[in-house]
Amino acid sequence: MTTTSQAGSPVLRTEYQRSVADYWNTNRNDPVNLKLGEIDGLFHHHYGIGNYDPSVLERPKSTKDERIIAELHRLETAQADLLLDHLGPIEPADRLLDAGSGRGGTSIMAHHRFGCAVDGVSISEYQVQFANEQAAERGIADRVRFHFRNMLDTGFDTGSRRAIWTNETTMYVDLAPLYAEFARLLEYGGRYVCITGCYNDVTGGRSKAVSRIDEQYICNIHPRSEYFKALSANNFVPITVIDLTPHTIPYWELRQQASVATGIEEAFLTAYREGSFHYLMIVADRI
Ligand SMILES: C[S@@+](CC[C@H](N)C(=O)[O-])C[C@H]1O[C@@H](n2cnc3c(N)ncnc32)[C@H](O)[C@@H]1O
Repeated sequence: MTTTSQAGSPVLRTEYQRSVADYWNTNRNDPVNLKLGEIDGLFHHHYGIGNYDPSVLERPKSTKDERIIAELHRLETAQADLLLDHLGPIEPADRLLDAGSGRGGTSIMAHHRFGCAVDGVSISEYQVQFANEQAAERGIADRVRFHFRNMLDTGFDTGSRRAIWTNETTMYVDLAPLYAEFARLLEYGGRYVCITGCYNDVTGGRSKAVSRIDEQYICNIHPRSEYFKALSANNFVPITVIDLTPHTIPYWELRQQASVATGIEEAFLTAYREGSFHYLMIVADRI
C-alpha cells in the first residue's frame, strides 16, 4: 500500500501520527474488538450505549461470558445506530465520509441503511485492509471503500459529501484543521455528527482519570469548549447536543465483568462518575 496521499504528500506527517498508526497497526488481536465483531461481522472500535439485560449476569458460568460479550456488541451497535439516526435524510446517490473508520463497522451499517456510497479513512494500513476485506465479503466493495488517508487532508473533492461523521476519533487530531477540512468537503447544509469523549471545562483541567485514558490510547482528549469553538470558527452550526454519559455508564459496568476487559474500565467509570469527562454527541450543519 502506498504511504503517500493522492496529492503526493505523506499520509503520516508527524511522529505523533506515526505512533497512533503504529498503535492501531499492532493492537490487532485485542479480543475486546475481535470477539465482539465476530458475532455478526460488524467490527467496532467504539463504546456502547443503553441498558444491558441484567439476566446475562445470572447465566451459568459456561455461557455467562459469551452472553456478556454479545450484550456489549449489541450496545456498541446501538451507539452507531444513534449516530446514523442523526445524519439527516440521505439518498442512495449521496456520498458519506467516515473519518477515522477503524475496522469499518459504522460505514457498513451506513451503507446498509441508506444504500449510499461511503468512504472511510484511517491512518492504519492494517485497518484499511481489514475493513476493505469486510466490504468485499459482503459484496459491497464498489460502494463502501476504505482508504489509507489522513482525515486532516483527505484528498477528496471539495463539496463532495452530504454528511461526515467521526466516531471516537477527534481526540487524535487538532480540531481547527479537522473542521476546516470537513467544511471544505461538505456541501452547503451538509451534516456533521461527532461522538466523542471530552473533558469538562467546568471541573477544571484534565483529571487524573482522563490523563490515564489519554495515556492508554495515545490520544489527547479535548475540553468540551474546544469543539464548539472550532465548529463555529469553521461555519458549523450545532443543532443537537446530547450528553450520552449516563447512557454509556452501564456499558462500562458490564464490560468490567467481561473476560475481554482491558483494565481501562475503572478510569472511564471514575471519570464519568466524578463528572470530569463526558460522552457527547454533537450534530452540526455546515453553512
Ligand atoms: C477509536 S478508533 C475509532 C474507529 C471507528 N470510528 C469506529 O467507531 O469503530 C480511532 C480511529 O481513528 C483513526 N485515526 C486517528 N488519527 C487519524 C487521522 N489523522 N486520520 C485518519 N484516521 C485517524 C485510527 O486509525 C482509528 O481507526
